[in-house]
Amino acid sequence: MTDYLRSWAGKTVLVTGGAGAIGSNLTRELATLGAKQVVILDDLSAAYEWNIPSESSVLFVNGSVTDEIALKRVFGYRPAVVFHLAAFFANQNSVDYPQRDLMTNGMGTLLVFQYAQMCGVERVVYASSGCSIYGSSAPLPLTEDFVSMHLTTPYQITKMLGELYANFFFHHYDLPIVKTRFFNSFGPGEVPGQYRNVIPNFIYLALCGRPLPFTGSGDETRDFTYVTDIVDALLRAGHFPEAIGQEFNIASGQEVGILDMARQVNDLTGNTAGIAKAEPRVWDTKKRLLASIERARTVIGYEPQTSFDEGLRATVDWFREHWTTIQRDAEFPPGMSAAFRVVDEPASSGVVAEQGR
Ligand SMILES: NC(=O)c1ccc[n+]([C@@H]2O[C@H](COP(=O)([O-])OP(=O)(O)OC[C@H]3O[C@@H](n4cnc5c(N)ncnc54)[C@H](O)[C@@H]3O)[C@@H](O)[C@H]2O)c1
Repeated sequence: MTDYLRSWAGKTVLVTGGAGAIGSNLTRELATLGAKQVVILDDLSAAYEWNIPSESSVLFVNGSVTDEIALKRVFGYRPAVVFHLAAFFANQNSVDYPQRDLMTNGMGTLLVFQYAQMCGVERVVYASSGCSIYGSSAPLPLTEDFVSMHLTTPYQITKMLGELYANFFFHHYDLPIVKTRFFNSFGPGEVPGQYRNVIPNFIYLALCGRPLPFTGSGDETRDFTYVTDIVDALLRAGHFPEAIGQEFNIASGQEVGILDMARQVNDLTGNTAGIAKAEPRVWDTKKRLLASIERARTVIGYEPQTSFDEGLRATVDWFREHWTTIQRDAEFPPGMSAAFRVVDEPASSGVVAEQGR
């Protein structure tokens, strides 16, 4: 085991949003690495208790990052490291509920940083987003120093706001903070739903035998990142001193066509319903996404380990294993079949899946 993995043994760690898609995987890994206590603060607004790791060192606190009583409680455990992953997720959700987005991603993030600073934590790692910083017309591959002011959703604005607060706390208070910019995470632990990512929603629809709603023109790409690679990057960002004050793209560094991904999902699931044309969302202006991961490679030794094909197979396996629970909990508008909604209704009311994280 390399040093950065060994360093987590015996530590108390706070994971906000630790019941979520990425947070649950991070929490499990921290527990496996021997963390003394992993405290989760999550209000379960977009997560399920059954997805929370059951290891004895995991302590789940059901509460909001906007609630100071909950924050006092979790910071009372004196975490050495804070992973701030809680967020109002994601683009379409924020278009529908911009005030809730600002409360959680803006005020909640500010409060977490304030408490981290007051408690003198050793490290804060902030979960930012590739799609939020770079806008729609940055040159590829996307590098960390490009910033766009032309963002298309409240979520993108508030994820950037989180980075700006991170910079403020770093410069003004010397808060040891690292910003990690994820690109299209996928993998076990993400339950499909109206506001979830494209991969879990496609797998869900495919397993239901429905056509996969494709909103693009055919040449759209994304840099899909397997969740355990993101977890590895977070563990590195939380350990290496050289990371402090910096921002890192956390991606696979590979471009995958969304249409190819949809075909692969249909092949893996044996879905014969094919692919259906759906109208694009107004904010979904990104054609291609590909990140440069050179900085993460050089500074924190990050190297993605899971190929897209391998990760997709593992994700489909996870869906099959948890199919009954996923069917029960997948959140699509009541009384409306997600697939029919996509095929029969105009896109303005038909949320398909988040393609632009
Ligand atoms: N998944 C991606 O592709 C992706 C891409 C870029 C950035 N990110 C960022 O990574 C982080 C984790 O993403 P994820 O995919 O695991 O999302 P997720 O929605 O699965 O996890 C977020 C968690 O935060 C919780 N939460 C929401 N509001 C809260 C509040 N007020 N107080 C406490 N908990 C609250 C939710 O219940 C959920 O468990 C987020 O900050 C997200 O913005 C994700």
